[in-house]
Amino acid sequence: MAIQRPKGTQDLLPGVVEKWQYLEEQIRKICREYGYEEIRTPMFEATELFQRGVGETTDIVNKEMYTFLDKGDRSMTLRPEGTASVCRAYVENKLYGGPQPVKLYYTGPMFRYERPQSGRFRQFHQFGVEVLGADKPIVDAEVITLVWDLYNRLGLKGLEVHVNSVGCPTCRAEHKIKLQEFLAPRREHLCKDCQERYEKNPLRILDCKNPTCQELTQGAPTTLDTLCEDCGQHFKELQELLSAAEVVYKVDPRLVRGLDYYRKTAFEVLVEDIGAQSAICGGGRYDGLVQEVGGPQTPGIGFAMGIERVLAALNLSGGAPDVETKDYLMLVALGERAQSEGFAIVSRLRKKGLPVSIDLLGRSLKAQLKAADRTKANYAAILGQEELEKGIIILRNLTLGEQEEIALKDLEEYVMRKYREDVKA
Ligand code: HAM
Repeated sequence: MAIQRPKGTQDLLPGVVEKWQYLEEQIRKICREYGYEEIRTPMFEATELFQRGVGETTDIVNKEMYTFLDKGDRSMTLRPEGTASVCRAYVENKLYGGPQPVKLYYTGPMFRYERPQSGRFRQFHQFGVEVLGADKPIVDAEVITLVWDLYNRLGLKGLEVHVNSVGCPTCRAEHKIKLQEFLAPRREHLCKDCQERYEKNPLRILDCKNPTCQELTQGAPTTLDTLCEDCGQHFKELQELLSAAEVVYKVDPRLVRGLDYYRKTAFEVLVEDIGAQSAICGGGRYDGLVQEVGGPQTPGIGFAMGIERVLAALNLSGGAPDVETKDYLMLVALGERAQSEGFAIVSRLRKKGLPVSIDLLGRSLKAQLKAADRTKANYAAILGQEELEKGIIILRNLTLGEQEEIALKDLEEYVMRKYREDVKA
């Protein structure tokens, strides 16, 4: 029996991987322009980091973590998200001691044991941004604008930016009481998960996908109804700044994110038509998280987007530009001596930066020329026993179908000149 890849994972083959590279390039470019620096943290962390950071009552921690004991009996978890790790790194490396704010971004695989379906994987990839050490609404506006700007540069269509404020622990406590009062008479009709959420984290009931729960929570008090003055002002300023930056957004009082660390701003970007999993980005402010993982009180805000879902949205909006791996020259060598001479030429041309290939299978002239055609090479340079003896090589222009003989010693200079001219044109 052939071994198969684990459920919910993907092999990214040539042809698809170029789309990923394109998106990754756009991500790096926009991060440079906005002044965000890359951080790389480990793929696994102490389980406690996510228990404390993401929260004990979340689905991620309760149901979805890849947790294992290592050989030293320590409980480790494959990271289900990046924010907790970035905060841990901020504390552990004392980044709070340097200039603030610290503006970071990351890309890489995340792991959640979820039921795989279209757009939902067990190993998926995120691009995320975190800003630590700044609490003003302008920071929230900057990160949301970055997402908006990236998606518009990519040409994504049908975007919806939803923003909400989930308040701070003070106003949330008041909201919790009001929400529990509202839900009390409906409690026994809620789904099993929501019955549990009722005591610990009733806010999450607003986010339940169960149709009965959705109906039962119609008209429930939202966090916007109980925002304290500080949170209300923050949310108002954020909206003014988003409008100033011409971000098209909508206030969604029912937007409750599935992670416990959010305070004040929460947001999501949705795209119509990519299927059940329409959230291509989610984020928010987490002013208590750095302290939660053992650091000084530090405000933070960020987002993460699912690369797979952004690519699905990109496909629907016309797709990433096609990038193909293309040889400029194919060296067609016939016979052993020609092959070793050809290999030496190819090695020298590669050092000069020319995209060039040589046959690796010892194929016939016809087969090698066919391969050159397939890679859409501009030229084929044909070297056989006879050409070697005469000190020449045949250079065939594969676009025009013309060929000429040139001295073997002149080949490299000649081809490099043509290449430079073509690249410039
Ligand atoms: P999240 O909403 O759990 O937030 O994930 C962010 C994005 O990752 C989602 O909007 C979605 O595009 C993608 N995603 C999540 N789970 C899957 C999956 N199983 N398969 C495919 N894509 C998925 C966070 O992870 C927070 N750390 C975001 C954040 C950063 N908040 C503040 N800073």
